[in-house]
Amino acid sequence: MDYEMILTERDGAVGIVTLNRPKALNALSTPLVDEVVDALRAFDADPGIGCMVLTGSERAFAAGADIKEMKDLSFADAFGGDFISSWDRIATMRKPVIAAVAGFALGGGCEVAMMCDLIIAADTAKFGQPEINLGVMPGAGGTQRLTRAVGKAKAMDLILTGRMMEAEEAERCGLVARIVPADRLLEEAKTLAATIARHSLPSLMAAKESVNRAYETTLSEGVHFERRLFHALFATHDQKEGMAAFAEKRSPEFQNR
Ligand code: CAA
Repeated sequence: MDYEMILTERDGAVGIVTLNRPKALNALSTPLVDEVVDALRAFDADPGIGCMVLTGSERAFAAGADIKEMKDLSFADAFGGDFISSWDRIATMRKPVIAAVAGFALGGGCEVAMMCDLIIAADTAKFGQPEINLGVMPGAGGTQRLTRAVGKAKAMDLILTGRMMEAEEAERCGLVARIVPADRLLEEAKTLAATIARHSLPSLMAAKESVNRAYETTLSEGVHFERRLFHALFATHDQKEGMAAFAEKRSPEFQNR
């Protein structure tokens, strides 16, 4: 598949999608987001892929929704067309998706990173929800996912001031899983993705679904849901193989079934 605004690559069981609109700091236009969704879906459906990485450039993961594309929208356009609702498709992948973030991850850029399952950041990364500076507010999940990730106080601080936060602060408050030197970001993200992809796909997908359920339900319902998925995994070949391999003191050979 030929794309105009992204690059795609396979590295073993890892699928990599790179935002590639450098002149606009990877501003997230509708066609760009459509390409990202299409490429992620293709990897998600590919039985040879176990984990995906979504990344940008050294200067910017993405500097937000495309302001030039949306500046003249009327309320009727935005509401009637349900503007940016389609972005949430990024959060519907069933296999793990890692956001590898260097430079700016602002507005929609931060929101897209938060749609991924975990964020690995270069020491140059800068996160923020600066929509307030444009006379609007976050619209692709920022008020919801950021609040869940970092808590109300920090989310309010970022969203109401529009300030940027460095990688270190982002890690400290729980938005970022790990920080690495900028020149090693992609390599580290691929290594992390390959480590994840080595596991049994049904257990990875079930674990991801169960963690995400924590954001959607009560504790007792979530624990119940988790336990049922845990039970279901006993129907897989890979449960037998993983536990036999432990007992026999050897490495498991998972078959994703
Ligand atoms: N949309 C469209 N174009 C953008 C853009 C955006 N979000 N961010 C940067 N660009 C463009 C600039 O217009 C500029 O293009 P030209 O060369 O044609 O003028 C190019 O990218 C380089 O940007 P700058 O010259 O501004 O680079 P800088 O290094 O001086 O500043 C920056 C970098 C601080 C990230 C600055 O570009 C900036 O503030 N960008 C906007 C950030 C923002 O407000 N994001 C939120 C968008 S709204 C949103 O995302 C809503 C939502 O919740 C979904």
